[in-house]
Amino acid sequence: MSDNPFILEPYRSKDLFCDRENELAQLMAHLENGRNVTMISPRRLGKTGLIFRLFDEIKTTGAPYETVYADISDTLSLEDSIKVLSQAVATQLKSQSQILSFLKALKSIRPLLGVDPFSGMPQVSIAFATNEQQQRTLEDLLMFLENYPQQVVVAIDEFQQIREYEGLNMEAVLRKHIQHLHNVRFIYCGSKKHTMADMFTNAKSPFYESTVFLSLEKLSETVYADFIKHQFERRGKSIGDEQVRYILEWTRDYTYYTQKVCNKVFEISAKQVRMEDV
Ligand SMILES: Nc1ncnc2c1ncn2[C@@H]1O[C@H](COP(=O)(O)OP(=O)(O)OP(=O)(O)O)[C@@H](O)[C@H]1O
Ligand SMILES: [Mg+2]
Repeated sequence: MSDNPFILEPYRSKDLFCDRENELAQLMAHLENGRNVTMISPRRLGKTGLIFRLFDEIKTTGAPYETVYADISDTLSLEDSIKVLSQAVATQLKSQSQILSFLKALKSIRPLLGVDPFSGMPQVSIAFATNEQQQRTLEDLLMFLENYPQQVVVAIDEFQQIREYEGLNMEAVLRKHIQHLHNVRFIYCGSKKHTMADMFTNAKSPFYESTVFLSLEKLSETVYADFIKHQFERRGKSIGDEQVRYILEWTRDYTYYTQKVCNKVFEISAKQVRMEDV
């Protein structure tokens, strides 16, 4: 793994992730108190990263949740979303008996469970027929999670995408099945603010008032500045306040751009970062 401490993927580890402690605590409190969450922010601020940070926290503290992450940005239909969701669930199955009960639960279809030859992770392939059958499968999948021995947190990333499904009110379908679940908590994530807000605050929308909101803002500038200096120092380099300020001003504190600039500056600088490097 690269030694550059400024990551460009959503999450790698706690020590390379800046702050979000407050949001993390809020998310934990929502889970512990049975609240589903809608998380909204402009693009590239760190929603996906925060989900993985939360899942990492759950794992390291031994909090009693199973975690499932499904990115539905590439889905265009109920069928696609079932594939993504069942794949996400299958990835988390640890024992043979869990795998067996997963296969049994999805009784309305015959999923083929194989092993990905590269990653060694379980992999599901499914063949569908009717829309009805698909809806039953979704129900079976959710019932599997409802009967899971642990509470389950399902994060659905790019949730606004379900409005793009043709010929189906996916919100209504999903809401119908989700509202009866006790063992499963949902985190709906998205960057299209208007669509997301409409889904959860418009009285005509199926998901109306079914969640609490977490609006992810930019990282605090002073906290981010300290983080940047600390990351350079940990790798035996040094960067001055002036340079850090200049970076954060130029990136307008946007997380991804800040990471990208710092990543490059880290690469090209010697022990002491110069203004020229920046
Ligand atoms: N707390 C953080 N500390 C350090 N880097 C971060 C943090 N949060 C996000 N990043 C960086 O910002 C990038 C964008 O974050 P992420 O993909 O989580 O944003 P997003 O809000 O999910 O974006 P999109 O709306 O495009 O999906 C990440 O690839 C990572 O480099
Ligand atoms: Mg994202």
